[in-house]
Order: sequence, then structure tokens, then C-alpha cells
Amino acid sequence: MVSFEGKVAIVTGAGRGLGASHAKLLASLGASVVVNDLGGSATGTGASTAPAEEVVAEIIAAGGRAVANFDSVSENPEGIVASAIDAFGKLDVVVNNAGINQAHAFEGDIMASIRKHMEVHFYGTAGVTAAAWPHLIASGEGRVVNTTSPTLVGFPEQTPYVSAKGAILAFTRTLAFEGAPLGIKINAIAPTAASRMSDEADLPEDFKQFMRDNLPASLVSPVVAYLASAGCAINGEVLETQGGAVKRFVLGLNGGYANTELTADLVGEHIAEILDASTHVPFATIDQQDLSAVGK
Ligand code: NAI
Repeated sequence: MVSFEGKVAIVTGAGRGLGASHAKLLASLGASVVVNDLGGSATGTGASTAPAEEVVAEIIAAGGRAVANFDSVSENPEGIVASAIDAFGKLDVVVNNAGINQAHAFEGDIMASIRKHMEVHFYGTAGVTAAAWPHLIASGEGRVVNTTSPTLVGFPEQTPYVSAKGAILAFTRTLAFEGAPLGIKINAIAPTAASRMSDEADLPEDFKQFMRDNLPASLVSPVVAYLASAGCAINGEVLETQGGAVKRFVLGLNGGYANTELTADLVGEHIAEILDASTHVPFATIDQQDLSAVGK
């Protein structure tokens, strides 16, 4: 049975939405939790201590252990990790969940939006993980659960957001190789759940209502708890999850086309074969991945 007795977890962006749900579930399963949240708007402006304070109060009222931290994941990741060490003396689990979303067509000040998304999503995830790393090694059962997105499939006017989520996918898959010999497992979720972010997104109103009725954050958090647990059996994977469904998000290659006399014309002539979905093979799990092509 999954238990976090004796474990210390950080959940970033845990003042609302998915993060609040993850923090409450981990605390109810015995974890001591740092509830981090900057408390800004869904697009990444402003700050408030109220969201994190409220979640901490709820956890303590339910008999759990939690402290609040109000640092931005991109500005002071070390401060978030210091909160865990100061309050609880160790750190076993990092759930990188904090996020923002600004819809932005690829025009005008698009680069400012790309930088902002990379700062919060990617540098936030990488920064908190880097600050936590020595403590996760010391834990012997360190766990990192990152948050990417099903929008990786592509989404109009979301280039900044989806690009940053793509960086998190690559970070997860790659760092997992270094975590493995250290007892650290790094996985990600690609969730869908009703939240402030989804409420403010440019989505059809009937889909938003469907999300409110059928896709609660509480049905995503069990996947996070599994991936954060000592018994988690997987590493370097992305699990797409919504409404109680959990699926492997697959990266892979197909059989393609090969010719040692390759020309641009031949690429064009064989483009159907090159895109043939029927020959797709997913990448193996990282413990079975063949890295000989990159000399490892
Ligand atoms: P939300 O807007 O309800 O919650 C996000 C929380 O992150 C907020 O409380 C906010 O104050 C906090 N935050 C933002 N920037 C921060 C920073 N720099 N430092 C610390 N905290 C910060 O959004 P939601 O939906 O709960 O999103 C949580 C995560 O799940 C995000 O990474 C989001 O991109 C991801 N996600 C959500 C989906 C959904 O369907 N709700 C779909 C795919 C991904």
C-alpha cells in the first residue's frame, strides 16, 4: 500500500488546482509537505501568500504536516528546497507542478511570452530539481514528478506553453538515466483536469463544463502519488491522465525508408513510407533503451 510516512515532499504551485490536490493527497498518505505557491494569476502576474496558506491550513486541520513557501520556482528554487530542510530536515519527493498559461499567436512580443513560459515551466522544474538533487540522492529513494501536457500533440496559439512543456518531457526522459544508479526515479504526468487554468483557457464552454463535471484534479493526484512513492516501478516515463484514465505517452520511430544513395527526390517519392503510422515502434523503457547509436 502506498504510504509516505517518514517522507518529505515539495509540491510546487500547490496553492490551487492540481498542485493543491497532489499536496493534500500526499499529506493524507503521511508525507510532510512543503506547499509552494507564488499565488499569482493564471497568466503569471502578481503574487499572494493566501493560496499556499489556505492549503497548509487545510492539511493541518486534517491532521497532516505542512509548511507554506511563497517563492517563485523560477526566482528562488533554492529557497523552496531550504524550506523543506529547515522544517523537516530532509527531502524525498519533488512534484514540479507550478505553471502559467498565456495564449499567444506567433507574432508581436512572442519572444517575451516564450521566455516567460520557459522561466516558469522549464527553469522552474529544472531549478527546483537541481536544488533538490543532493537531498534526493541522500534519500536513497528520491522521486521527481514533473508536469508536462497532453497539448504536446500540438495546439494553435500555444507555442510558448507547449514548447516549455516539451522541454520538460525531454528533461524527464534524459535525467532519468542519471537518476537510475542513484535510486532516483523521474517521471512526468500529462494531465487534464478542471482548474483555474482550464477555466481561463481558450476552450469551448461545453468542454470546460465537461471538465468540471468529469475531470477533477483528485483523479490525477493518485498517479502523482504512485510516481512519488518508494514502490514506483517506472523511470523516465510520461503518463497521460484524466478522469481516472492513465496511459503511457509514447515516443517512438517507425520503420521509415533507407537508401545509401538518398536524394531529395527519393525523400519526396517515399514520403508516405516515411510517415507510415502502421510501422511505429515506441521507444523502450530507459532500462532497456539501446544507447549504442550515441556511443553509450
Ligand atoms: P492553476 O492555475 O489552477 O494552478 C497553478 C498554480 O501554480 C497557481 O496556484 C499559481 O499561483 C502557481 N504558480 C504559477 N507560477 C508560479 C511560480 N513561478 N512559482 C510558484 N508557483 C507558481 O493551474 P493547474 O491547472 O492546476 O495547473 C497545474 C499544472 O498542470 C501546470 O503546470 C499546468 O501547466 C499543468 N497542466 C494543467 C492542465 C489542466 O487541464 N488543468 C493540462 C495540462 C497541464
